[in-house]
Amino acid sequence: MKEIVIKYKAITNFSLLSTVDKDLMKRASEVANSAYAPYSSFHVGAALILENDHVVVGNNQENSSFPCGICAERVALFSAGTNYPNLLIKKIAITAVSKDFNLENPVGPCGLCRQVLIECEDKQGLDIEIILFNKKQVIKLNKAKDLLPFFFKEEKLKRT
Ligand code: THU
Repeated sequence: MKEIVIKYKAITNFSLLSTVDKDLMKRASEVANSAYAPYSSFHVGAALILENDHVVVGNNQENSSFPCGICAERVALFSAGTNYPNLLIKKIAITAVSKDFNLENPVGPCGLCRQVLIECEDKQGLDIEIILFNKKQVIKLNKAKDLLPFFFKEEKLKRT
């Protein structure tokens, strides 16, 4: 049998975090609070930092036609892709808040967002650091690819 090992850091002492990480987490928390999530009451915020230190944020946007909604991570990633197509993404911080759910552990991105994160990482040729957090704990992964083993990548789909 083969084995895949995924390394991550679990941090509970927030004073060990860099100022950049703390600032990014603050932006993610702030934007989570303004998510449009009247149906799930599950408010997610994502903040990514670009190579020029500009921060792009996203939050989940729901709709009464449920499948129309979109996750916070993809709002931030696609916004960066639209507005800053040539700037590398260094890291992304993700958090969820809800008054209806007890979010004991930091929330991880859904499968769709993992796939998008990985293609952004692959496209830019630089690892995107992942910071998942809540009030108690921070989980840090070195790269998006650590979130989704055997992710979909099909070069032949790209037109030349
Ligand atoms: N959601 C996100 O924004 N990001 C995720 O990675 C998981 C789920 C949103 C989608 C929906 O608006 C709500 O959380 C409940 O699933």
